[in-house]
Amino acid sequence: MIKKVSVNTIQKIKNNGEKFSVLTAYDYSTAKYLDEAGIDIILIGDSLAMVALGYDTTHSVGVDEMSIFTKAVARGVNRAMVVTDMPFMSYNIDIESALINVCNMVKYGANAVKIEGCSDYILNVIKRCVESGVPVMGHLGFTPQFLNTIGGYNIQGKSFDATLNILDQAKELEKAGVFSIVLEMVPEESAQYITENLTVPTISCGAGRYCTGQVMVSDDMLGKFSEFKPKFARKYGDMKSLILNCAKQFDYDVKHGFYPADDEVFKLAEDELKQLKMHSM
Ligand code: KIV
Repeated sequence: MIKKVSVNTIQKIKNNGEKFSVLTAYDYSTAKYLDEAGIDIILIGDSLAMVALGYDTTHSVGVDEMSIFTKAVARGVNRAMVVTDMPFMSYNIDIESALINVCNMVKYGANAVKIEGCSDYILNVIKRCVESGVPVMGHLGFTPQFLNTIGGYNIQGKSFDATLNILDQAKELEKAGVFSIVLEMVPEESAQYITENLTVPTISCGAGRYCTGQVMVSDDMLGKFSEFKPKFARKYGDMKSLILNCAKQFDYDVKHGFYPADDEVFKLAEDELKQLKMHSM
């Protein structure tokens, strides 16, 4: 029997000084292959707004879209922990609607949710989720849902004071009950200091080598999303070229009569064919 990755597995990995992997997925087959490959956490990130739906920022997706993608991903996964990103304003209005939205994601197949930020209100939402049995992954540093108040895609924690500020926030998240914290676009030394002063594991999203986990948007890893490439993304494949080449070959074959071939079509039985030919005479 496959042993499902849980919050305990993730904590043990940190305690043993090991590392874990996190990739985003938005559809059934990608999730299935990432799971088969041994990825520990599969995140239905709200990055899907940009890489799968073509919006300019993550603000444009809501709970309806995240629900559809969560269900698809959850159906493909056996071993990995499935984490759904709570989209913009799905947890910010009041605790009651936040809990309804969070619990629905669990009903759709998420094993945990990710929530950005660390205000008193957010800490309360996190506490209530954990009390209700929903593990929460925190998200500090650059938090894309706060893009407009941050004022741009800016590196966070660039000074001693800013690093301590993120550490204070991380400790508050830890007290509220998060099982891990994503640190996005934070200098490596700051992320290392924060990681070493926390009990829960941190997950680097452009925060260097010393976090316990590393997360990447799979469309960046696969070379599928080509509008821009963050400094910290590594392209392991060239899916854009693969898709372009396959589509061009298909187009050529269709237009030159090479597709479909004889073994790609259904055939009438001999006697039916005979009748058809007689009929057309
Ligand atoms: O939306 C997302 O994919 C994320 C990760 C990159 C951390 O939040």
